[in-house]
This record gives sequence, C-alpha cells and structure tokens, in this order.
Amino acid sequence: MIQWQTRYETGITDIDDDHRRLVALINDLDSALAQDGDMGLVGRVIDALVEYADYHFSREEALMAEAGFDDLAGHVESHADFGQFLGAMVGGCILNPSRETAARIIDYLQEWLVDHILVEDMKYVPLVRGRASSLH
Ligand SMILES: [Fe+2]
Ligand SMILES: [Fe+2]
Repeated sequence: MIQWQTRYETGITDIDDDHRRLVALINDLDSALAQDGDMGLVGRVIDALVEYADYHFSREEALMAEAGFDDLAGHVESHADFGQFLGAMVGGCILNPSRETAARIIDYLQEWLVDHILVEDMKYVPLVRGRASSLH
C-alpha cells in the first residue's frame, strides 16, 4: 500500500487530486489481489487505472505546454514509456492471469508513480505554479 505523504504534493490542486486518485487505484488493486482468486476484479481495477493514468497524463501535458515547460518532450516520453510498459504487462496478465503477474504489476506501479511524481513531475512545478500566481 502507498501511504500518501505531503512530499508528494505539488500544490497544484488538479494534479494533486489526480495523483491521490492514482494512488487510491493502486491501493485498490492491492486489495483486489488480496481477495482470493478474484482476477476479474483485479482486471477491472487495472482497466480503471490505465484509463485514469491516460486522462491524468493528457491533463498534465496540457498544463506543461501552456506554461511553456522546456522539457515537455522528455516528460511526454516518460508517460509514453510507462503506458507501453503497463500495456505489455497487462497483456501478459490477460494471457497468464496469475497472482504473481498481478503482484509484479502492482510493485512496478507503486515504484514508478512515486518516483515519477518526486523526480519528473516536480520539475515543472515551479514554472506552472509561478505562472498560476502571476495570473491572479
Ligand atoms: Fe508526469
Ligand atoms: Fe503526474
């Protein structure tokens, strides 16, 4: 389980709400897997997570583009790599729906999300926040 921490906060409400939602979905996935044998439920939570991650990435990329963030391309690539890796793992999980596969996906998701927020997302925060405060 990922415990939300204040150091994950960007101070940008929409982004923090999205990140909290993603953390909640990853934790839901953990609970779903803990419920014996219900791989159908695990699959549905993975679907919801993939969909929400997609939505969040688009929203974040639009925000960075608007603010003129100089490493937009690198950040978009990181999101795309994640999408591809997740897609491949989900494909593997459909072919071989085992608890081990699902547990590996969860481990990867937990590590990737926290690391991405702390390292990559934090890079655009000063620019996006500065821009928001200059509009008031
Ligand atoms: Fe991001
Ligand atoms: Fe993000």
